Amino acid sequence: MTLIDKPRADRRAFITGSAAWAASGLLASGGLQAQQLRAGSFAAGDYKPRRGQSGKDVIWIPTPDLFVTRMLRLAQVTPQDFVIDLGSGDGKIVIAAAREGARGLGIEYNPDMVELSRRRAQEAGVAERTRFEKADIFESDFSQATVVTMYLLPQLNLKLRPRILALKPGTRVVSHEFRMGRWRPDETSSVDHAALHLWLVPANVGGQWELQFPQQAGPVTTRLEVRRQHFQDFTGTVGFKDFDTGLREPKVAGEQVRFGFTDEDGRLRRFVGQVAGDVINGSVYDLTAGGARAPFSARRIGAAPAIEGSGPAAADEAESLGND
Ligand SMILES: C[S@@+](CC[C@H](N)C(=O)[O-])C[C@H]1O[C@@H](n2cnc3c(N)ncnc32)[C@H](O)[C@@H]1O
Repeated sequence: MTLIDKPRADRRAFITGSAAWAASGLLASGGLQAQQLRAGSFAAGDYKPRRGQSGKDVIWIPTPDLFVTRMLRLAQVTPQDFVIDLGSGDGKIVIAAAREGARGLGIEYNPDMVELSRRRAQEAGVAERTRFEKADIFESDFSQATVVTMYLLPQLNLKLRPRILALKPGTRVVSHEFRMGRWRPDETSSVDHAALHLWLVPANVGGQWELQFPQQAGPVTTRLEVRRQHFQDFTGTVGFKDFDTGLREPKVAGEQVRFGFTDEDGRLRRFVGQVAGDVINGSVYDLTAGGARAPFSARRIGAAPAIEGSGPAAADEAESLGND
């Protein structure tokens, strides 16, 4: 039985358990292969990685091809993308993305895996669109990514989370198997007992906004107050002359923000806009009148508060391993 044939719980136990051994030093520095590598007994082209071999923070297990395809679909990878795989192993995710026309970078600590990835990219005819760097993901800059992929561990995902949340809004992040604590995935696929999670880095919509949209009597300017943004979720109110009202179904999906409320005329309005720094532009739909569409805009007044959860994970979140 191969690892992929095992039930999901077994595979999770394998990667997390083996990583625990690696962390304790039993696998990280030992083993025949590691000794051979240190002794330089492998010629460059002969290197054969061993499933489950130790890595700096997590062992190597390749993501199966079927999952790789689904991960790239979830992230909607196109030739315009720059895909960075954190802990890239034999390079298969980066190579698959490059086969679809994207550019890719693999960051991998094991120099033999980096060499192997370069050879495989060459063989696949995608060397000019791929790069593989021997580096530690915790010391590397991956801020240029439009798509980040990873197959690490829950606690490593949590440790990376502040840097992932600081990426450009709309950046897509896909993780094989492990989640990122309380940051709920935007979509999860189950394939062959494995979970593949997608997150969209949310735009910051916190703070006070001046919101302009057309009511029946003409354009109106109101105060939109976003009190609390927790990853892609937020709460807020809109203030009119005689009342304040809460937002319905508020949500950030990458650079897109959505919310609704009942306006002064009693019309249910649904707003869908693109956030660009301190400005939002988009469309407002009058759901009481069959969805008639009109433009709206908003301008942030003052500073944007930090998104809740964008700092280091709280101790209780880290303790629960954030994969519940
Ligand atoms: C589970 S494998 C996943 C490989 C590949 N991403 C895939 O999905 O097929 C994790 C990889 O991360 C590498 N790795 C572990 N700690 C690392 C670190 N701190 N920096 C860079 N690579 C690391 C390991 O050597 C291993 O190749």
